[in-house]
Amino acid sequence: MSTRTHESVTVRVPAKVNVQLAVGAARPDGFHDLANVFLAVSLFDEVTATPADSLTVTCTGPDADQVPLDRTNLAARAAEILAARAGLSPSVHLHIAKNIPVAGGMAGGSADGAAALVACDALWGLNTPLPQLLDICAELGSDVPFSLVGGAALGTGRGELLTPVEAGTFHWVFAVADGGLSTPAVFREFDRLAEGREIPEPVASPALLAALASGDPDALAAVLANDLQPAALSLRPSLADTLAAGTDAGALAALVSGSGPTTAFLVRDAESALKVAAALEASGTCRTTRVATSPAPGATVLP
Ligand code: C5P
Repeated sequence: MSTRTHESVTVRVPAKVNVQLAVGAARPDGFHDLANVFLAVSLFDEVTATPADSLTVTCTGPDADQVPLDRTNLAARAAEILAARAGLSPSVHLHIAKNIPVAGGMAGGSADGAAALVACDALWGLNTPLPQLLDICAELGSDVPFSLVGGAALGTGRGELLTPVEAGTFHWVFAVADGGLSTPAVFREFDRLAEGREIPEPVASPALLAALASGDPDALAAVLANDLQPAALSLRPSLADTLAAGTDAGALAALVSGSGPTTAFLVRDAESALKVAAALEASGTCRTTRVATSPAPGATVLP
C-alpha cells in the first residue's frame, strides 16, 4: 500500500525545438510517420500537484489566458489516466506556472502533460516504472514522451518512439508570434502542399546527427531542416519576415519551431543570443523573444 508523503509536488519541464523534422505521407490513422530530432531547451514550465477534493487546473504566466483549464488540458488528462490505471480518483489540484509559448510549436502543452504525470506519480507515491509512464505519455500525445525524458533524442513512428542521441551545447533565440497555429491544421496544409508528389520515407540525417554530437554551431546551422516549415509559412506568411530579421541580425540559421508559429534562431554564443533577441524585438516582426540553451533535462521533481 503506498502512502502519501507529500503536501505538494512541483515538477519542472522543458520546451523543445526540432532540429530535423522529416515528415512522411499521412498514415491511415491520420498521423504522419516522422524522423523527428528533438532538443530540449532551457525554457521551463512548472506544474505543482496538491491534494484537492476534485481535479482542478489553474495557470499563471504571460500567456495564461490562452491555456484551457478544463479536461482538454493535457495536465488534467495525465492525472486522469494515471489515477484510472492506479484505481484512484484524480483528486488533485494542478497549478501550471507557464513560461513556454502557448500553441507555439515548442510542445508547451505536452510538457505540462509530462510534468503533471510525474508530479501526480510522486504525490500519490506510485513509483510507476518509466516504460509505463512513457506509455501514458504516448497516449497523451506524440511529443509528450520526449517532454518527459528531455535531453536530445530521435523520435520515430509519430514521434513517440525515442532513441537518445548525443548533443553538444547550443545557444538559441526564440521569437514568439502573435496567436498560435493549430498543429493538425499545419499537418493538413503539409498534405495539401504535397498533393500529387511522392513523399519519401522520413529518415534521420547522418550529417545532422554528427553536427549535433560535435557541438559545432556552424555545422548544425548548415543542416537544420523542418518539413513543416513551408506549411507553417503558407498559413502564416509573415513568419518569413521574422526569419529574415533574425538572420539579418547575425543568427547562424533560422527555422520554424515544429508546427510554429514560434521561430527558432541558432546563434554562436550567449552574447550573440542577446544581440539577436534585441534585434528581433526591435524589428517589430514578433511579439517577444526568449533566449535558451540546449540540451536541457526532462521532467524533474523540484526539491
Ligand atoms: O499527437 P498529438 O495529439 O500531439 O497530435 C496532434 C495532431 O497533429 C494530430 O491529431 C495530427 O493531426 C497531427 N500529427 C500528425 N502526425 C504526427 C503527429 C501529429 O499528423 N506524427
